[in-house]
Amino acid sequence: MKILAIETSCDETAAAIVEDGIKILSNVVASSTTMHQKYGGIVPEVAAREQHRVIMPVIKETLEQAKLSIDDIDKVAVTIGPGLIGSLLIGVETAKTIAFVTKKPLIPVNHVIAHMFGNFLSPSQPVEFPVISLVVSGGHTELYLMKSRSDLTWLGGTLDDAAGEAFDKTARLLGFGNRGGPAIAAAAANYPIIQLSNNPIKLPRPLLYDKTLNFSFSGLKTAVLREWKKQETHDEALVNAFAYEVQEAITDVLVAKTIKAAEKYHAQSILISGGVAANSCLREKLSILNYQFSIHAPSPALCTDNAVYIASCAFFKSKPVDWHDITALPDLSVEENI
Ligand code: KG4
Ligand code: ZN
Repeated sequence: MKILAIETSCDETAAAIVEDGIKILSNVVASSTTMHQKYGGIVPEVAAREQHRVIMPVIKETLEQAKLSIDDIDKVAVTIGPGLIGSLLIGVETAKTIAFVTKKPLIPVNHVIAHMFGNFLSPSQPVEFPVISLVVSGGHTELYLMKSRSDLTWLGGTLDDAAGEAFDKTARLLGFGNRGGPAIAAAAANYPIIQLSNNPIKLPRPLLYDKTLNFSFSGLKTAVLREWKKQETHDEALVNAFAYEVQEAITDVLVAKTIKAAEKYHAQSILISGGVAANSCLREKLSILNYQFSIHAPSPALCTDNAVYIASCAFFKSKPVDWHDITALPDLSVEENI
């Protein structure tokens, strides 16, 4: 079964063809990130206009990369939400048109839930259920219990900023512009190992010890600003020290809450996914637990937004819906188990 999937929930225009939910035949991602650089954040109108311009070339390239024609495709899948309305509409209306013209089934997909299906693409070891799944992206920090690929329960999430947002906002404060998480990770790697135990920068670990499985990251930005103002000199070494502590604070909380959930629900496996799952500090902290749980993370390139995991989710979990009944849903709930 070959599924052509389309993903346009944020500033990426992505399409992929995946066979039987696991075999990637093609994967194309076009991003308008650099076009937003001068604005300090994504401008929805700019993103949607660019997606409108590139959607058809991206789909054409996806078919060419797989050496297939549209007739070889069995089903079409598309992200219907959550996301930016203008961006979602480009993908959804394109997918509906393809489904109408070719008479192929169309499968609507929840972007946040789909992220975790990046873990079912050629896993190095089988995913054993029950699973605790942490989705950490620019817009979401959510914990789910998965009893099977189609039986999902939402356990908790962020009360304010997502983990990726915390990386992005603190990165801007430290002068990294729009490069967010990857810039913090790179600067943190430059912090000398010898100084790890006496980093002068101390940041809070929000909600680390509370009883719920919720997160809160909005206070980190203020804490960074407060600490930054206390410092007399602001050189590269200090930026690295800040980056190291920001990364430690965010990953400490993510790991602690994930373990709490895994122990509470007697999980066999832990899955992480979403852009922040590409962070090597987070991956290392979780990998230490591999004596207790089987730990899974998609390859870093498949953590950030793409259409491969949309196709995989469509294959393993979501069901086709008449195209007349499919619409872009920017506020689609992270619990909407479609
Ligand atoms: O999943 P994604 O591509 O888009 C959303 O659905 O939001 O996630 C993007 C987020 C951004 O906040 C970005 O800074 C973060 O993922 N990110 C990282 C890393 N790579 C991407 N955060 C920390 N470390 C990384 N290596
Ligand atoms: Zn995403």
